[in-house]
Amino acid sequence: MAAGKGTRMKSRLPKVLHKLAGRALLQHVLDTTAQLGPHRNFVITGHGADAVESAIAASGALPVRQMPQLGTGHAVQQVVPHLADGGTTLILNGDVPLIEAATMQALAQACGGHQLALLTITLDDATGYGRILRSGDAVGGRVLGIVEHKDASPAQRQIREVYTGMMAAPTALLKRWVMALTNNNAQGEFYLTDIVAMAVAEGVPVVATHAADETEVLGVNSPLQLADLERRFQRRQADVLLEAGVRLADPARFDLRGTLATGQDVEIDVGCVFEGTVTLGDEVRVGAHCVIRDAQIAAGAVIHPFTHIEGASVGPGALVGPYARLRPGAELGAEVHIGNFVEVKNSTLAAGAKANHLAYLGDATVGERVNYGAGSITANYDGANKHRTVIEADVHIGSNCVLVAPVTIGAGGTVGGGSTITKSTEPGALSVARGKQVSIANWARPQKKPKA
Ligand code: UD1
Ligand code: MG
Repeated sequence: MAAGKGTRMKSRLPKVLHKLAGRALLQHVLDTTAQLGPHRNFVITGHGADAVESAIAASGALPVRQMPQLGTGHAVQQVVPHLADGGTTLILNGDVPLIEAATMQALAQACGGHQLALLTITLDDATGYGRILRSGDAVGGRVLGIVEHKDASPAQRQIREVYTGMMAAPTALLKRWVMALTNNNAQGEFYLTDIVAMAVAEGVPVVATHAADETEVLGVNSPLQLADLERRFQRRQADVLLEAGVRLADPARFDLRGTLATGQDVEIDVGCVFEGTVTLGDEVRVGAHCVIRDAQIAAGAVIHPFTHIEGASVGPGALVGPYARLRPGAELGAEVHIGNFVEVKNSTLAAGAKANHLAYLGDATVGERVNYGAGSITANYDGANKHRTVIEADVHIGSNCVLVAPVTIGAGGTVGGGSTITKSTEPGALSVARGKQVSIANWARPQKKPKA
């Protein structure tokens, strides 16, 4: 179910498209559901349906619209024509992102195609939730029904066992029950939860599966709750890495929005964000406040603080940063050094090459042991097209040079500081291309005129 408005998010974006750890809330549920291999998978859309439907287009789930949104029972009514006649239907909430596959599986098994299985949890503060009514007061009595908070008597509001919003039902019975719902209640809505009393009245067994971990069943209704779940999720991921031997300086200051594969003796300082698919080899060290997305960092490399890496690979033993930026297509070989305020894009640097200060390498092929001076840039763009710069092995580029592409600097050559190089150079050559120095002895600077 993903048709609700999510008013308390106070956002134009439909609630289920808000992101947790870089993935939409609804996407978390779909990804986890996929692990169960369901026969069919429906997403009930309504509020922001166009956006929600395009977001799930690749998932294989079939959208079913609910217009207008008249309650959770009404939502399920919309899929009734699409459901098979037998089997089990699992109902999940698009805004409860951290439900785990094992819990879904247990719920479906508890149903087994012939019982109604509810996922419940006992909360200290049950305000707002549907309460589980049982014969006798205690958890353990037979389930008789669910009463919504707004419809509950003061005595019923004392009940702390609540419905999490997730259930598994025999499909044939579910179809019949939801079509028989009425909206005669405090909110004038069709409550899915009313089917519980119907099951009881027909003598269909109702079982309650208790969720072990509250994090799994927490819903997102507000930015505050979203931030809380984000932290819980991040902490879970951090714990997995710590248990694998990764040394996180502080698991509370670590963010992973994707997948991170790590070797042995990896160290990650505070405030780093990993996105997409990132691999860190053995003994990689990542300094504080780095943002690393879709990258492979080979063994022994050191990423110094405040470095941004995206779509790049870093060779073994390389040193990058602080304040470096590796953009898509940057491929650094072994022992390459990239220093502060150096930007590398769509360029390969062979083993031992160095660009240590304030430089730009775009669309360049840089040979082994090249030393690329401070403030030098490749002028790779002529205003219409991009061109490549080739710097062969053992070249020394002085400071503040402009290499106007397409251009090749021959192996072992040297380019004098301040040169603007527009023509390719021979191997071993010294190339200097700049205005000659002029010095005028005892030159008097202009004086300020006295005020009239
Ligand atoms: C529901 C349950 C309540 C439970 C709580 C757990 C009902 C009647 N009540 O209450 O017992 O304790 O969840 O969080 O089911 N939705 C639609 N279409 C609609 C209405 C809702 O698709 O017309 C979707 C929402 O997007 C959401 C889910 O259904 O994903 C739950 O809706 P919500 O309004 O949050 O239900 P609650 O009142 O919280
Ligand atoms: Mg709710």
